[in-house]
Amino acid sequence: MFVVLAFVFLCLLVLYVKYKYFTSHRSIPSLPGHFLFGNLLQSGLLRGVAFPQVYTSFKDQLGDIYEIKLGFLHGIVVGDKDDLQHIFSHRHIYDQGDWMVEILSVVIPDGLITLKGAKFKRHASITMPLFRHGKIRSNFDLIINCTDELLNNWRSSSSDHIHCDILQQCQNLLLEIFGFISFDYDFDTLRGTNNNELTQALRDHIGTVELGFYMPSLLLNAYLKLSPKCRRARTTIKQHLYRMMEQELNETPESRAQRKKTSLIASLVASLQIDEQAEERKSEEERKGLTRREILGEMLMFLIAGFETTSTTLAWAIHLLSKNSGVQQKIKAELMNENGHHDLTLDHFDSLIYLDCVIKEILRFSPPIDSVVRTLTMDDCLPNSGIQLYKGDQIIIPICILSRDPRYWSIDPELFYPERFLVEDKNHNPYVFLPFGSGHRQCIGQDLARFELKVIVARLMQYVTFIDGGPEVNAGGHLQGATIMPKYVGIKIKFDSEI
Ligand code: HEM
Repeated sequence: MFVVLAFVFLCLLVLYVKYKYFTSHRSIPSLPGHFLFGNLLQSGLLRGVAFPQVYTSFKDQLGDIYEIKLGFLHGIVVGDKDDLQHIFSHRHIYDQGDWMVEILSVVIPDGLITLKGAKFKRHASITMPLFRHGKIRSNFDLIINCTDELLNNWRSSSSDHIHCDILQQCQNLLLEIFGFISFDYDFDTLRGTNNNELTQALRDHIGTVELGFYMPSLLLNAYLKLSPKCRRARTTIKQHLYRMMEQELNETPESRAQRKKTSLIASLVASLQIDEQAEERKSEEERKGLTRREILGEMLMFLIAGFETTSTTLAWAIHLLSKNSGVQQKIKAELMNENGHHDLTLDHFDSLIYLDCVIKEILRFSPPIDSVVRTLTMDDCLPNSGIQLYKGDQIIIPICILSRDPRYWSIDPELFYPERFLVEDKNHNPYVFLPFGSGHRQCIGQDLARFELKVIVARLMQYVTFIDGGPEVNAGGHLQGATIMPKYVGIKIKFDSEI
């Protein structure tokens, strides 16, 4: 009897799971999927195929709007520019994606990206002012000095040497810069030793974000708790970040007031709640400031969101420049002042319009984040396609597809051509170029990222030319991680006096 009951229960459970998670109840185009894995196996994601290829292949078969099921994660991909305008301008209907929140809150609890509602507003009111224009620009010399250290490292290798570790070198540079900018902390990544305990812990921790794409958060949470490597990484990160916080709190009030003008950690720590317990008794809407735990969450989020995205973009920049020597020559010409010298002062820097176009073109051609997600807070109908959506639906916006869609660009989007932003494509539709997302949840670090990238590329172009290392080692391709990284970058670095 017991066996029969158990069998019936199991059958009902399987039918329920199939109905709830693996059956499409909509008229939105989709590809038939596997009973348990949905479209995960046919997408090739588990075999190393990256999201840009997956979205391209599904769009070719199903059009601009379709349903995709990746294991337990079900989403509706929307690639129609008019529908996107509607989505991004109706923040009360399309809020931060639950998918994003679920994955990231396991690795970055209390970080802005994982919050919604009143708590999001409280954190945003503290974190957004940290990225003001003046604060960002005060880092000009610091970014130049760090880039010079990288150039010094390159000077010691022969000009025939093919550098195949550009991605790692870009990560080292950005971690060094971001450590100083954010926390006055030296990650010590550019002096060849690379054995900083926090750097290693951070790399291990970011690795777990990638696991989250394919694992339900319950399993990911269990894995993080059980894996000694993950536990060690979390403890190390916590210890270091709390120590940085304490150091800041030990500064004199005068010094903290002064440091607040430029330092990110000083501003964050200044928001510390004086009486955490009293704040806890208030409603979320009335609360002010951040708890220690929340400051820690924001520090970790800045590190994760800020360093990997920017370093990936820099690696793409070096790869694409090596393939386009004409673009390098134009940047160098723009850097030249009236005395025939490469000039890099903050004033001259602002006039580098062509370089601005190059940075935009890199982000259009190879956006490091492939998509952003929104979740519906109520039922809604997309105005252009007429598709009916329901509360709780996950909408995936495939950034990487829109920026290469020939319908939306006057000049062939498969061409790497920075000048497009000076001419025909200058007035492109804003919803087809979204490297930093859009609407109320767009990237808060985008001005800092653009500034860092522009200063670094300008400094590099003052001294070196990147030479294509050949089709075997410099083939590009996509490597799917937390960001979309170039898979093969192999370049020679010539110091210009040698050419
Ligand atoms: C090239 C570099 C970067 C790229 C391509 C990038 C891209 C993105 C994208 C696509 C989003 C999601 C936006 C949306 O959902 O609409 C995002 C969110 C975010 N980014 Fe960036 N990012 C970069 C650099 C940075 C930096 C330097 C920081 C700061 C330290 C940062 C902090 C954040 C934060 C806090 C969010 C969450 C915002 C929210 O949820 O409201 N990012 N970023």
